Amino acid sequence: MPANLIKRDAIAALAARAAGLGQPEGNPRLKQVVNRLLGDLMLAIDELDISMNEFWTGVAYLTQAGKQNEFGLIVPGVVLEHFLDLRLDEAERRAGLSGSTVRTIEGPLYIAGAPLSNGEARLDDGTDDGEVLFMEGQVRAVSGEPIAGAVVDVWHANTMGNYSHFDPSQAAFNLRRRIETDKEGRYKFRSIMPSGYACPPGSQTEKLLQAMGRHGNRPAHVHFFVTAPGYRKLTTQINIDGDKYLHDDFAFGTRDELIPRVERVSDAAEIHKAGLNKPFSRIRFDFTVTKEATGAPASIVAREHAEAA
Ligand code: BEZ
Ligand code: FE
Repeated sequence: MPANLIKRDAIAALAARAAGLGQPEGNPRLKQVVNRLLGDLMLAIDELDISMNEFWTGVAYLTQAGKQNEFGLIVPGVVLEHFLDLRLDEAERRAGLSGSTVRTIEGPLYIAGAPLSNGEARLDDGTDDGEVLFMEGQVRAVSGEPIAGAVVDVWHANTMGNYSHFDPSQAAFNLRRRIETDKEGRYKFRSIMPSGYACPPGSQTEKLLQAMGRHGNRPAHVHFFVTAPGYRKLTTQINIDGDKYLHDDFAFGTRDELIPRVERVSDAAEIHKAGLNKPFSRIRFDFTVTKEATGAPASIVAREHAEAA
């Protein structure tokens, strides 16, 4: 079929009618968004001459993705989660907020309600023989003042790149903890070095990425939510330097400010002092959070999370 078969004002009229713009009932914001998205979609179909076969293949793809609960994977994979971060960064800048640790995507693998401890925690349950990782740092305000009682909610994958809860072979909340900072705003934990996540083989997400000539791998990383009363919630990650996918994250989560130095410790005396018998790694990373400000865009996002059983 040729492209551009339908007049633009006819497309606009169809979108407006389908979105209920002429109806007094309904949610005005929803109508506004549906009208815009439908209009843009019909324009794209007409301009690109999207065939019926292509259209229904797309519908079947999305239906299957929904059945497999994959939208949380597809959204970051097609850069939209990172795009939302860029918008929030810019909105904060315009609201006069600056100085915070850089944010990056949450991803779809957070589970609320991890065990809470004071000052320090061990994240791993000892069953994964990965390289030991010690991480520590301080939570501070932009002024430099340490924040006691902040909560560092940390989660990461195991040495196979898998997350507890989604990987039923791991114990509940393995590699997930909430750590309340001590009176000097400090947190620390012992864990194991994660491996990068890879999209499940055969998943709808992987199929789409492959069809676009892309891979579905992330570099090794550790996620954080940092919260404190009166401060804006920080959602971020650190990436493990040296990872093959460090600057080629399928989910667009890597940011240069979030690649701390990884200190590889192989000195026998240090190993002994740490109570270990093999080399380990150490990372120091401080978080800076900004004070909540009236008129600033929300930093707490209403997002569905998988529930712990
Ligand atoms: C992750 O954080 O591991 C992740 C992020 C986006 C998509 C898939 C996984
Ligand atoms: Fe992750």
